[in-house]
Amino acid sequence: MTVSTTTVPTIRLHDGTQIPQLGFGVFLVPPEETQRRVEQAFEVGYRHVDTAQMYGNEAEVGAAIEASGIARDELYVTTKLNNGFHRPDDARRSFAESLEKLRLDHVDLFLIHWPLPTRYDGDFVSTWQTMVELRDDGGATSVGVSNFEPDHLDTIIDRTGEVPVVNQIEVNPYFTNEAARAADARHGIATEAWSPIARGAIAGDETIAGIAERVGRTPAQVTLRWHVQRGDIVFPKSMRRERMEENFALFDFELTEADMTAIAALDRGESGRTGPNPNTFDRIPD
Ligand SMILES: NC(=O)c1ccc[n+]([C@@H]2O[C@H](COP(=O)([O-])OP(=O)(O)OC[C@H]3O[C@@H](n4cnc5c(N)ncnc54)[C@H](OP(=O)(O)O)[C@@H]3O)[C@@H](O)[C@H]2O)c1
Repeated sequence: MTVSTTTVPTIRLHDGTQIPQLGFGVFLVPPEETQRRVEQAFEVGYRHVDTAQMYGNEAEVGAAIEASGIARDELYVTTKLNNGFHRPDDARRSFAESLEKLRLDHVDLFLIHWPLPTRYDGDFVSTWQTMVELRDDGGATSVGVSNFEPDHLDTIIDRTGEVPVVNQIEVNPYFTNEAARAADARHGIATEAWSPIARGAIAGDETIAGIAERVGRTPAQVTLRWHVQRGDIVFPKSMRRERMEENFALFDFELTEADMTAIAALDRGESGRTGPNPNTFDRIPD
């Protein structure tokens, strides 16, 4: 196995745990491809995997973990609660199934995938309370949320006194999502930036291409480095080993303040989103 010598920095979460700032995301990696792709990512050097019940590939992630022989305490594994399972009993049952599929006795991080404010009579507080109980029972070292808008965060924190360790939200150069990032920072919550390269859309950007040429890197590397220098956690997805390597090589170059500002200026507000708006998204997968 070729193991990269790159050291991925860790971010300290407010519960005292450490998360690798760079990981490998497996959204849209088909189950039949997942074991092989995650094994490749491990070979490249990734030690943090981001999956979800909704992705339908937890079992294959688990198979890759088992086959890798990597010590459990060297891996960081995240999964997320599916939208149909917000009621406490469903959350507990589905979480037990996730652990079984992943072949783990605990995950490092369990997240509420979407707040679904228009579902469940607007109640995501009891779901959050259940997540905290699952953490206290030992099945998840840390618990957090995903796609929570500032008012959703305020609601769960006010009502339970429990602060999520992370909020995994969409952030890319065209949708810098400053309001949500600022709310996270106010509460001491780490931001995880999903679809960090806007699902590949940054590849043709002139500003990013100009910076990439100057620093001798690719547009994807420049964009991922921008996230890293902002302090966010990223886990780009790729089905191709050469891109896994490319996306992993982020820690031996730096962007200037001017580069950082120029990329942030690409923000297009709401129209820059690649995914749904958390205030209205209500899909319950089959
Ligand atoms: N919490 C949420 O609601 C949520 C939502 C979306 C995503 N996520 C998480 O965030 C992770 C990353 O987001 P994402 O998968 O949506 O998008 P992404 O990582 O921004 O982009 C992935 C896309 O870009 C391509 N790509 C990868 N590396 C590239 C490179 N170096 N140059 C050019 N193109 C490249 C990939 O194609 P190939 O595969 O063909 O290389 C794929 O089409 C997901 O896997 C998931 O773990 C979470």
